[in-house]
Amino acid sequence: MPFKFITPEEAASYIKNGDTIGFSGFTAAGTPKAVTQALAKKAEEEHNAGREFKVSVFTGASTNDFVDGALSRANAIDRRTPYQSNSDSRAGINNRSINYFDMHLSHISQNVRYGFLGNIDVAIIEAQSIDDSGEIVLGTAVGMIPTYAKLADKIIIELNKHIPEGINGMHDIYEPLDPPYRKEIPVYKPNDRIGTTTLKVDPSKIIGVVETSYSDGVKEFTPVDATTMKIGENVTNFIVNEYKNGRIPKEFLPIQSGVGNIANAVLACLGKNPDIPQFDMYTEVVQDSVIDLMKTGKCRFVSTCSLTLSDKCMNEVFDNIDYFRDKILLRPGEISNNPEVIRRLGLITMNTALEVDLFGNVNSTHVVGTKMMNGIGGSGDFTRNSYLSIFTCPSVAKGGKISAIVPFVSHLDHSEHSVDVIITDQGVADLRGKSPIQRANAIIENCVHPEYKQLLKDYLSLCTKAAHTPHSLRAAFGFHNQFNESGDMRETKWEDYIKN
Ligand code: COA
Repeated sequence: MPFKFITPEEAASYIKNGDTIGFSGFTAAGTPKAVTQALAKKAEEEHNAGREFKVSVFTGASTNDFVDGALSRANAIDRRTPYQSNSDSRAGINNRSINYFDMHLSHISQNVRYGFLGNIDVAIIEAQSIDDSGEIVLGTAVGMIPTYAKLADKIIIELNKHIPEGINGMHDIYEPLDPPYRKEIPVYKPNDRIGTTTLKVDPSKIIGVVETSYSDGVKEFTPVDATTMKIGENVTNFIVNEYKNGRIPKEFLPIQSGVGNIANAVLACLGKNPDIPQFDMYTEVVQDSVIDLMKTGKCRFVSTCSLTLSDKCMNEVFDNIDYFRDKILLRPGEISNNPEVIRRLGLITMNTALEVDLFGNVNSTHVVGTKMMNGIGGSGDFTRNSYLSIFTCPSVAKGGKISAIVPFVSHLDHSEHSVDVIITDQGVADLRGKSPIQRANAIIENCVHPEYKQLLKDYLSLCTKAAHTPHSLRAAFGFHNQFNESGDMRETKWEDYIKN
């Protein structure tokens, strides 16, 4: 090997204050894990010596404690994009010590190539292997690393012995040309392979290889509770009904499913239903429930950006890698989330909302309007371009003190023009072809928790002077104001908003 083996500390010594680092991986899967911890230590030492030290962290999506956790605790992050879900980085974002900008995942790579986000100084890549010419077999995710690696001035490799050789053949690395030369992305079926199995980087940019042996450390999902189970059943019954009524073609359509506990449970429910035929997925994240469906054959094929599997489930995939290799393609985020491909394949998309308003606008990111939760992730890429876009959420949060259905969303991620169906534990509101007042009535009737139904009906009756969309601009954030004052949206009193 022409590359020198270096320690994580030595690798971190090449990274300077103000650098922008592009990381491999997508969610906790496939990120570097050793250099980031050494970098956090270096940042602390620099701060203790009275020197500034912060870097910009550009990833595929969320990461894990090795990246966002360690670097946030060390106060080492200046700019951060595109998505995170770590409690320490969330705290830094919300106290504004981290300059987080939330972007659609499909935009990141091209915006970096267009020069919109500045130079990439260093790329850190977790690899299963690397040969002398710089051909890399990546790990359990791809993320945006093809672009970061191409543009970076320097590259550091983390060679992770934990990843088995058998993963070679699962990746499909492809980068589109930029306008005005871009052509169609030739994915016509989820299993169309369009690129290479390895990522080729310029070997002269590699400053060293760090040997590691880490699992991705993804925790197992919390057991499905009654609310999540009910959401899963409601989604399944809705899709079965669409299928039986011919609004989904007889061949069925590829499925995209979002992140988190709810998404995992919804897929498990869908997979168990005998009326749902075998299906393929074109998605950005594969969670444990999908692997169970692949074992039974219910899910035939998955195109994804990452294998975000609990360690137990990942070990099972690694132990049976020959079974899974031709059933999974790991693609760059620019392709897994590409609007052109999503629209062409006709995806049924299922994502989770934090809050939804009476008209079908969705807030996926901001708790009570100002506090960042995770970010928009790929939910916008999929929702806006889907065949059928579904949002799920529990009808209430925090023991009923928060209604997930509010008069007006306190932050907008997905507008009423992109959202087809809302599904909660209470039921299904099909918003297609409905006017604003019809949508509001359907949502109140079918999705709102019983404790909030009358309050929301009363809200609509305040809006007698409104035109096409029934709103009282004075009262539209009444639920949120009440939550900020007393901690319980159920105590909202509309008379407080009526002008004497
Ligand atoms: N107001 C305040 N808090 C709320 C809330 C609301 N309206 N709705 C939910 N929450 C809280 C929950 O109480 C829970 O809090 P906890 O962690 O303290 O228990 C937390 O939000 C997570 O909610 P949960 O019901 O467990 O759902 P989840 O794990 O499925 O996550 C999202 C939900 C919206 C945060 C998550 O799906 C997300 O980040 N989505 C945006 C990105 C995305 O959709 N990516 C997928 C594209 S492939």
